[in-house]
Amino acid sequence: MAQQRTCIITGSASGIGAATAALLRERGQRVIGVDLHDAEIVVDLSTHAGRAELVDRAAELSDGSVDAVIANAGLSSESTATVAVNYFGALATLEGLRPLLAASSAPRAVLTASMAALFPPDEELLEACLAHDEPAAVHRASELLDTGAGSAIYGTTKRALVRWVRRNAAAEEWAGAGIPLNAIAPGVIRTPMTSGLTATAEAERALLEMVPMPLNGIAEAATVASLLDYLTSAENSHLCGQIVYIDGGSDVVMRGDSVW
Ligand SMILES: NC(=O)c1ccc[n+]([C@@H]2O[C@H](COP(=O)([O-])OP(=O)(O)OC[C@H]3O[C@@H](n4cnc5c(N)ncnc54)[C@H](O)[C@@H]3O)[C@@H](O)[C@H]2O)c1
Repeated sequence: MAQQRTCIITGSASGIGAATAALLRERGQRVIGVDLHDAEIVVDLSTHAGRAELVDRAAELSDGSVDAVIANAGLSSESTATVAVNYFGALATLEGLRPLLAASSAPRAVLTASMAALFPPDEELLEACLAHDEPAAVHRASELLDTGAGSAIYGTTKRALVRWVRRNAAAEEWAGAGIPLNAIAPGVIRTPMTSGLTATAEAERALLEMVPMPLNGIAEAATVASLLDYLTSAENSHLCGQIVYIDGGSDVVMRGDSVW
């Protein structure tokens, strides 16, 4: 029988994170969930203190060895907190827990991005994120909120994440250390995050005009969980820096063959 793997999942109390934690546990893995509530590690990933506490508690609970990290916690609100959690919290998770991955014989790392990374980003916010300048990024997000352009925040944080994956996956710290680093880009998934957007048939139609999903429409969180199960498995030895769309076709509809 295969050795039990230990996986850390942020945002484990709800939606995609909860479905993934349930699937991995069902398949015999040890899951250390991280969230604001109802988790093994209760921390606020929008703060420096919360991120530091995550690293300390994860080291304690895992005895210094983790096989997979899924940086999945996120917010979709038009707020500065969305920048802090989606980008800086996710990176602090991966970078902070990388030393624990180094102790595994088959370490894996995955970020939950979004197809919203395809929407036009705010360039200034994108640059501040990629420069790792959290005060500047938060400042730019508040300017966007003040000027009624807050809707660009979410997609920009996800664009920054996928850029970061592309820039880092082949580096010494990740590929060089034998750690596949990849991201998933879900389309619309039925979770508490999207419940307000799918509450009526009319709202759902409007959403699917923005995020076209010709293949089977809106997906359930369990569908995303099985992709995360594969990406974090020992079998996934050679995916490097890929942004895996699980979006019912929105990427294909929006970008066609322009990427090839
Ligand atoms: N639902 C979708 O349609 C969809 C589509 C694309 C990408 N995503 C991404 O998938 C991920 C999971 O989203 P979901 O749909 O499961 O949403 P969700 O709201 O059901 O779950 C998100 C979880 O993240 C946690 N979280 C939020 N802020 C936190 C913080 N400061 N510290 C610690 N935990 C925090 C929440 O408490 C919650 O449990 C997010 O990164 C989201 O952007 C979702």
